[in-house]
Amino acid sequence: MEKKILIEKFFEKYGNRSLEPVLFFSPGRVNLIGEHTDYNGGFVFPCALDYGTYLAVRKTTSGMLRFSTLNFSDDFSTAVADSYSKSGNKWTNYPLGVINEFAGRGIRVSGLELLFFGDVPNGAGLSSSASIEIVTAVAVNELFNAGLSMLELVKLGQRAENVFVGMNCGIMDQFAVGFGLDDHAIFLNCDTLKYENVPVKLGNCELIITNTNKRRGLTDSKYNERRGECEKAVELLQAYKPIRNLSELGPGEISALDTYITDPVIRKRAKHVVSENGRVLEAVKVLSENNLKRFGELMNQSHDSLMEDYEVTGMELDTLVYEGRKLPGVIGTRMTGAGFGGCTVSIVEKEHAAAFIETLGTTYTEKTGLKPDFYRPRIGNGAGRL
Ligand code: GLA
Repeated sequence: MEKKILIEKFFEKYGNRSLEPVLFFSPGRVNLIGEHTDYNGGFVFPCALDYGTYLAVRKTTSGMLRFSTLNFSDDFSTAVADSYSKSGNKWTNYPLGVINEFAGRGIRVSGLELLFFGDVPNGAGLSSSASIEIVTAVAVNELFNAGLSMLELVKLGQRAENVFVGMNCGIMDQFAVGFGLDDHAIFLNCDTLKYENVPVKLGNCELIITNTNKRRGLTDSKYNERRGECEKAVELLQAYKPIRNLSELGPGEISALDTYITDPVIRKRAKHVVSENGRVLEAVKVLSENNLKRFGELMNQSHDSLMEDYEVTGMELDTLVYEGRKLPGVIGTRMTGAGFGGCTVSIVEKEHAAAFIETLGTTYTEKTGLKPDFYRPRIGNGAGRL
């Protein structure tokens, strides 16, 4: 989105051309590997995209918070207050939840006019929610001189989503969209929040994201169910050793799961988390050695584990992944994000990318009746002023 178009749309919406809005951008993210590990204190390896959420915003003296978006016509206004409450399933709960968090920290946000535009698909596992939260957080922080660090804004965004919106997500998404760096992925330890930007050199390959376009269904409740199962596993493993989270078990300790967890479902969930952490560690190492082939194998194993042990894939994601793997030039392909629908991420040789998109698109539609979307993103920077 070009700056001048966004500004023009802002004036069309809110008038008063004498006062220009300030512009911000926050990316979406794709996770390369390390799925369902963040809320287990484990490792993740996401990167920010060059798609995301734009925000044009201006302070007013009207005593109102006015929200609108170019994506659909669903405006919302509410009077400035000391605290706010959620209204239904409206998209504005994300920015309002963030403003509510600032209010809770004693930072009173006065009247605002906000215009959003997102070019990352909603509810597709590419963190459209974190993107809108963090773009709001960065903007409010700057406009009201709140002085919070990026890490504080990331935590504030996660809290808005957990407490205000009611989705019990981990820290990965907000962290990735806050701390992204051009052409780098973020190797993050979700327990300590120590991170490293690792260069992603794909050589003759590129990233392709494929959207199943499966309608979002029970994702949130299934997500919370998986979290509960992991907590149960930690409880059972206390008889083995006093751990706070599943990521305190190393890949060499998988056999302990058989001994201490008799419930086969809980055991499988724990096995995914412990083995996935091992895969992230190896993936980061082989990527820095330019061993893309091994990186791709680890992506494939990650998907298999999410399908068999964590059971968060589903027919649409599995069709994309297993049909995709049959095509020439595919180095690795897996689901990304929470699962149950959403997107896959694939590393594909550039010379085979167009054929991959065409053939996989046709096969997927034949098998599922759905039309997929394909994106060929660049890895971009984290949130900030435009
Ligand atoms: C969603 C959540 C993240 C993370 C992933 C799964 O994207 O928001 O915190 O748990 O699912 O890896």
